[in-house]
Amino acid sequence: MPIPCKNIVLIGFMGTGKSTVGRLLSTSLAYRFADTDELIVRKAGKKIPAIFEESGEEGFRVIESEVLEDLTKEEGVVIATGGGIVTGEGNIEKLQTLGCVVWLTAKEESIWERVAHNKTRPLLQNDTPRETIQRLLTERLPLYEKAAHLTIGTDGLSASDVSFGILECLRLEKEISLHE
Ligand code: S3P
Repeated sequence: MPIPCKNIVLIGFMGTGKSTVGRLLSTSLAYRFADTDELIVRKAGKKIPAIFEESGEEGFRVIESEVLEDLTKEEGVVIATGGGIVTGEGNIEKLQTLGCVVWLTAKEESIWERVAHNKTRPLLQNDTPRETIQRLLTERLPLYEKAAHLTIGTDGLSASDVSFGILECLRLEKEISLHE
């Protein structure tokens, strides 16, 4: 059965470039662009650190799953998702129903370099952020693997290289039918 590509969904750990690559991809395909983190901020009326502070990770995940549910009506959208979306119950199935799920991977060192100085990710604002990354990566790898129709390594590549790589993979992959 061909993989449905009515939308393209980017999954992967924090710092793998989902939003930047997603914007480029959406321009190339003339798809719209959506970012679940932005939709969460809009829905909650507050920024992500404030949501975590007031409602905890659990509260954040509830809104994240609602936002994902809202997207199931969409077509022709490139959707960048938050790194933890695969942990929500039933979310992997929802992601796969949305369209072609592309997993952006990166080595732990590259992720660390990309997120170390960024203060906007509440899960990493602790005394041992590098250990947190290692733990979350171990927990989440099987979930990303389960969700992904296509896996793209991003180490040493620019966002436009990654976007071009995805487009080529989608074009060459006989099993994937791109939404016209
Ligand atoms: C999270 C990743 C973030 C954001 C939130 C939680 C996670 O998105 O959704 O801080 O659990 O990995 P990015 O992957 O875009 O950084």
